Amino acid sequence: MAKIKTQYSCRECGALSSKWAGQCPDCGAWNTLEESAVAPASPKGGRFSGYAGTAGAVAVQPLSEVVATEEARIATGIGELDRVLGGGLVAGSVVLIGGDPGIGKSTLLLQALTGLAENLATLYVTGEESPQQISMRAQRLGASGSPLRLVAETGVERILATAEVERPQVMVVDSIQTIFTEQLQSAPGAVAQVRESAAQLVRYAKRSGTALFLVGHVTKEGTLAGPRVLEHMVDTVLYFEGDSSSRYRVVRAFKNRFGAVNELGVFAMTERGLHPVANPSAIFLSRHEEPVAGSVVMVTREGSRPLLVEVQALVDECRGGNPRRLTLGLEQNRLSMLLAVLHRHGGVVTYDQDVFVNVVGGVRVNETGADLAVLLAVLSSLRDRPLPHELVVFGEVGLAGEIRPVPNGQERLNEAAKHGFTRAIVPKANAPKKGVKGMEVIAVQRLAEALDQV
Ligand code: TYD
Ligand code: MG
Repeated sequence: MAKIKTQYSCRECGALSSKWAGQCPDCGAWNTLEESAVAPASPKGGRFSGYAGTAGAVAVQPLSEVVATEEARIATGIGELDRVLGGGLVAGSVVLIGGDPGIGKSTLLLQALTGLAENLATLYVTGEESPQQISMRAQRLGASGSPLRLVAETGVERILATAEVERPQVMVVDSIQTIFTEQLQSAPGAVAQVRESAAQLVRYAKRSGTALFLVGHVTKEGTLAGPRVLEHMVDTVLYFEGDSSSRYRVVRAFKNRFGAVNELGVFAMTERGLHPVANPSAIFLSRHEEPVAGSVVMVTREGSRPLLVEVQALVDECRGGNPRRLTLGLEQNRLSMLLAVLHRHGGVVTYDQDVFVNVVGGVRVNETGADLAVLLAVLSSLRDRPLPHELVVFGEVGLAGEIRPVPNGQERLNEAAKHGFTRAIVPKANAPKKGVKGMEVIAVQRLAEALDQV
């Protein structure tokens, strides 16, 4: 049997070499050589001389003759999972599910697959846990009688050979970091291993029409351990957010070729698995008995639903040289920018203060509609003056001190009114002409106007 060839390619410049070295011989970058499999050369000539000789031309068709068909969707039976997937699983698609260890990736997929196994051919490949451990989890989920097919294996070649026999319509590989290919010598979990094994699995899914879930672990830095490359190879990337100490788990669509991004699925972790929360609009609110300084409720709109969240700020005198700006659930750099706007256009000084901002409940707010709420929370903490309990806020703050509108203002206001809020500070362009029943809407155009209101 011919020996499988490997080579080393530079991550920076793409140069190839046959031996590993600490420094790339071509561009001189350090620690950038990665092992990869050598693509089989075409029979005649080199890899790049194919177009004149061996390869035949393929059929080309005009765009107008391509029939766009709606992809058939497989409902997973878990409403919130279907929602983030964009309305269900698509045959032949590859979904990467990332998240911290222990957040519930295996639980969610086992629930989905035991449900699907009732009607479809399913296969659960576990590389981390033994079948006994999976069985114990299934018992907790009340699904131990499921016809789901299970295999503990980490070699990708053997996994694919098994899949050829089992012919699953939906398959899970848990997790991609444990899978290796015999073509490479590096240890499982190494970037090259993860990328090459995932590439083989993706090719299989596309060829066979199997819907494939890949589980990936996230490192402390928040990236999928090593292989961010995986994000480009797959159709859909879902991330678990939030901390595992809270009861609620949020799954966000980070990329989706078959649906909207930033769509959220919300679950509650219970004794018997993850339960979808179909109407999550107020679950992240923890209302205090008395109004407290530094707390502001905002209406965000992540995905296609409005969500009420509490933004908390703590502003404290800085005793060192460098004041700290720390955020949880919000973008850190944006806080520095907002504080500069607060100084220039609101006349409020924070350069001698540490500023900490947190979104309660472990949700992430990606949209700029949180700006105004952040600034009002900062001001409230700085002055130690609580804002009224029944107040909600949203709006983007521009560098010129203007308050800019956000999408779906009316819907956000309606949602807040439904939960008993009676006052709202919103961008002028978002103020509804007819008003909102039971709510006093204060429309502002400049930051200074908003600050005057509180
Ligand atoms: P798990 O799904 O194994 O997480 P991951 O695959 O992302 O590493 O486990 C999630 C956590 O949830 C684990 O600490 C145990 C807990 N759990 C429950 O609270 N209830 C349940 O019904 C199950 C199955 C797990
Ligand atoms: Mg797991």
